[in-house]
Amino acid sequence: MENKTEEEVSIIKVSSLTCIDLDNSDLHQSAVLLKQACLDSGFFYVINHGISEELKDEAFEHSKKFFALPLEEKMKVLRNEKYRGYAPFHDSLLDPENQVRGDYKEGFTIGFEGSKDGPHWDKPFHSPNIWPNPDVLPGWRETMEKYYQEALRVCKSIAKIMALALDLDVDYFNTPEMLGNPIADMVLFHYEGKSDPSKGIYACGAHSDFGMMSLLATDGVMGLQICKDKDVKPQKWEYTPSIKGAYIVNLGDLLERWSNGYFKSTLHRVLGNGQDRYSVSFLLYSRRIFSHKPNLIDIISQKSSFYQTCS
Ligand code: OGA
Ligand code: NI
Repeated sequence: MENKTEEEVSIIKVSSLTCIDLDNSDLHQSAVLLKQACLDSGFFYVINHGISEELKDEAFEHSKKFFALPLEEKMKVLRNEKYRGYAPFHDSLLDPENQVRGDYKEGFTIGFEGSKDGPHWDKPFHSPNIWPNPDVLPGWRETMEKYYQEALRVCKSIAKIMALALDLDVDYFNTPEMLGNPIADMVLFHYEGKSDPSKGIYACGAHSDFGMMSLLATDGVMGLQICKDKDVKPQKWEYTPSIKGAYIVNLGDLLERWSNGYFKSTLHRVLGNGQDRYSVSFLLYSRRIFSHKPNLIDIISQKSSFYQTCS
């Protein structure tokens, strides 16, 4: 151990996370488990989610094909002003304090389209998507649209258990106002290179997600790390492995805020090990970020039982 930096010594653990079975008909039992996971780390796995391995594999294969295109072809779908489309390597810099350069990743974002006649058309997060040329990547759009719908369905199932965990009605989030016409981005990622935290080089810098929750699938190449307590110095980072058939779910800042800081929107990052790594992230927000009344924190605050069982 002598030659290891403090940073390397601190990266010793592989996280063990709670697993939520979405096929369990006892939602209250799942809610107890989920609540503990949200209080402990804000990260958990879901299984029996109903997304077939075939569809997931197809989405990854298409994603790899897109990123393997010549840069010139990818630049034809460069992200637009609504951030849909291709984001080249180093485009994002999530942890400027610790990174010397942008993330060693490229991405492609597909968002919620909404309808032109819908009430939210002029809002920043709804717009048509942009797609790679179907002659170059036949079937690409269809696969991604199907995966998007499936990921949204799974998030809505998790939202039911989340509502129970917050002492709300089971369908609290599944209303037109909350998750109808949601703000939700599906982002394909391709990571490259070997990270070196001592030199400020990261595949993806430390960050927490902004939204309500994120549903993550990876190709199995290790890289994702979480830091359960951002205030402990030096920070302790734990690898979070992918488990076949399971999705990794984490809470975003919105849920942390809604729960008055009880639920964790945990810091996480990605380290590259030299292998190419692919992931598909589904980031779910809520319409509620645009409306303030009634305030969810006030509603949850009235449910004293929520706080009693948090301590
Ligand atoms: C994200 C994220 C991790 C990964 O999309 O916010 O943290 O493994 N992704 O791609
Ligand atoms: Ni993230």
